[in-house]
Amino acid sequence: MNDNLHQLRCFGCGELISGSDARPDFRCARCGDLFEVEYVGWSQRRGHDRPNPGALKWLWRERRSSLETLDQSGVWRFRELLPILDSFGSAVTLREGNTPLYPLIRAAKALGMDQLFAKHQGMNPTGSFKDTGMTAALSVARERGFEWVACASTGNTSAAMAAYAARAGLRSLVLIPEGKIAWGKLSQAMDYGAVTCQLKTDFDGCVRVLTEIVREAPIYLLNSVNPYRLEGQKTPAFEIAEAFDWAVPDHLIVPGGNLANSSALGKGFRELHELGLVARMPRISVIQAEGANPLVRSFATSKGAAMEPVEAHTRATAIRIGNPASWRKAARVIQNTGGWCLDVTETEIAIAKAELGAEGLGCEPASAVTLAGLKKLRADGRVAASETVVLLLTGHTLKDADYTIDFHRGTLLKEQETAGHEAEIHALRRNAIAVGATPAAVLAALKGSVG
Ligand code: F0G
Repeated sequence: MNDNLHQLRCFGCGELISGSDARPDFRCARCGDLFEVEYVGWSQRRGHDRPNPGALKWLWRERRSSLETLDQSGVWRFRELLPILDSFGSAVTLREGNTPLYPLIRAAKALGMDQLFAKHQGMNPTGSFKDTGMTAALSVARERGFEWVACASTGNTSAAMAAYAARAGLRSLVLIPEGKIAWGKLSQAMDYGAVTCQLKTDFDGCVRVLTEIVREAPIYLLNSVNPYRLEGQKTPAFEIAEAFDWAVPDHLIVPGGNLANSSALGKGFRELHELGLVARMPRISVIQAEGANPLVRSFATSKGAAMEPVEAHTRATAIRIGNPASWRKAARVIQNTGGWCLDVTETEIAIAKAELGAEGLGCEPASAVTLAGLKKLRADGRVAASETVVLLLTGHTLKDADYTIDFHRGTLLKEQETAGHEAEIHALRRNAIAVGATPAAVLAALKGSVG
């Protein structure tokens, strides 16, 4: 690891340590809080010594047409802003990042907006935004000589970790809450050869067990308490800024679970701003599911100063998290950028997900909270029609096919959940129709569906 170029700063007490001195659970020995990677040189360098914004922007764009493996990664093409490795040659990459930014035409029209976009992180190699963080942290694990890596997960982290570990020739251990993750994700961990343990507890329980394991065994922890994960996960901020020709959108809306991703994106934009690559930061808002909303409650009761864990319940299993590790970091990002933290109901999530599907994009339920949240922010005037808004879609629609099929079959939501939304749901539902194997029967079905 390149300890000359970076250090770890405790987010709670400000303690500065070298990367190799971090404890196995990545908690500060003094106050127990999490660390953030800090590039010491950046603050010390002045004037000519600072990275040249114009040169960096040119270099990063040039790399998009390069044939070099590292340049083809949407994370490592920005490597000047994440010098965490001794040698970039040890990076483990699956060509992550460089994900599409799609205009959302129908949703924009429905919301009376001109400029609405989806940054689709589900278009990463394992189908979620976790790949961008995993390439960074797993590369550190390899450089530090670990043979085993591990994570507790609601499914996507484990899929990403298992894939990157397999590519690097490392062994991986996955702890997942039994019966509470989507099958697509479980199948990925198996496919990529992880040792997968289903625990009779929730995500927060899995985290507790794994934290004890890494304190005893030489296993590298790849949950998002690992600050190197966030270095990879900040790079979509660079991609978004680049896509807007470095003019940054007004508002970025992100789903909130363990709250690392919002923290990472906030760090990414903050660094761009500090280094003079962009003139301002976007507002960053975090949306949680109503049944898994500890940060929303924290803002309601203490303006984000204290957080009480909750017992989490939501069908958006990716964000079924009651005790998010990175809540302080995320709260700071929301406060510093003038964003909001709000929650949305199961019905709002299901409708928003179907709407994103009907745009030809699709996403997993946890990602759809962003559109559901934006609708609320538009309805109460917190987002103006003229604003440029980007929704961060975190996972691919095939991650949780059961959820989608249940919605379209009409078996997802309970009667009390659909009450008042019948027409909206009816207009979106596209159940598969069983018909006889004749052209006449298919044509009759077609007539019925449009008539
Ligand atoms: N969206 C998806 C699809 C996720 O998988 C997650 C988190 C989030 C949003 C929330 O991101 O935790 O950084 O606030 N999934 C983790 C996992 C916890 O284990 O895969 P966050």
